[in-house]
Amino acid sequence: MSTVTIDERDDRVVVTLDRPDARNAVNAAMIGELHEVCARLEARPKPLLLTGSGGVFAAGADIAELAERGREEALQGINSRLFDRLARLPQPTVAAVDGYALGGGAELAFACDIRIASETAVFGNPEPGLGIIAAAGACWRLADLVGTSVAKQVLLGGIRLDAERAHRLGLVADVVPAADLHARAHGLLDRMTRSSAAALRLTKLVVDSPGGHPYVDDLAQAVLFETADKRDRMARFLTKETTR
Ligand code: COA
Repeated sequence: MSTVTIDERDDRVVVTLDRPDARNAVNAAMIGELHEVCARLEARPKPLLLTGSGGVFAAGADIAELAERGREEALQGINSRLFDRLARLPQPTVAAVDGYALGGGAELAFACDIRIASETAVFGNPEPGLGIIAAAGACWRLADLVGTSVAKQVLLGGIRLDAERAHRLGLVADVVPAADLHARAHGLLDRMTRSSAAALRLTKLVVDSPGGHPYVDDLAQAVLFETADKRDRMARFLTKETTR
């Protein structure tokens, strides 16, 4: 790996975007390496913590590469296919965003299930200023996350969302000093790892399933109701063995 660092633990994987000289801009090499991360997490599902080095999440797709791309590359959906794959990972994904999350960097954070921000986090999609659209998810994921009105402020108005506004809008779960960002994100993952992995996986599938409610919810519940893990967890609650 040359553009990301990977810390694989028993119960989670921490991936750090690591091209500080280019403000962690997402280039083709990083796309390839993040596909490898996805392949690993599809084979052995674990929660993912995604973050950036050097006080930046990611300053966008790599503009030097974008400048050389034409219609064929656009139709390949180089970034959007990766972000869609990331969004469909079986276990939850958390983006810990410090500093800039712009363009493709913002879209990468939007593709995660939950975002936590440092006080310096800034989300924005300046793509029209470069003569292109935010084609890797912002045009629809951002509207899903914060509503069409705010999405248009960002995508058309070039308005950046600082950490405080992102928090008020629900785009981020929490805002903490940069020094506490990773601890807070790990705390969230700690809580997740205490839950049933099967229940998290099926919850994510159900939340993200386009239509099909309530039948898909019933099907997922039917699977979970038959597990020993569910019976154990409920028995521990009823016998007051779990902390509440
Ligand atoms: N693609 C490629 N290189 C990038 C980049 C990007 N998206 N963002 C930053 N870089 C490079 C710069 O070209 C510069 O390289 P250099 O040192 O060889 O000149 C280096 O990263 C540092 O960038 P710089 O602008 O000097 O850092 P800064 O801290 O003053 O500003 C940003 C940070 C994020 C505000 C600024 O770099 C920026 O606006 N980046 C582009 C954001 C953007 O338009 N993203 C959408 C792309 S789709």
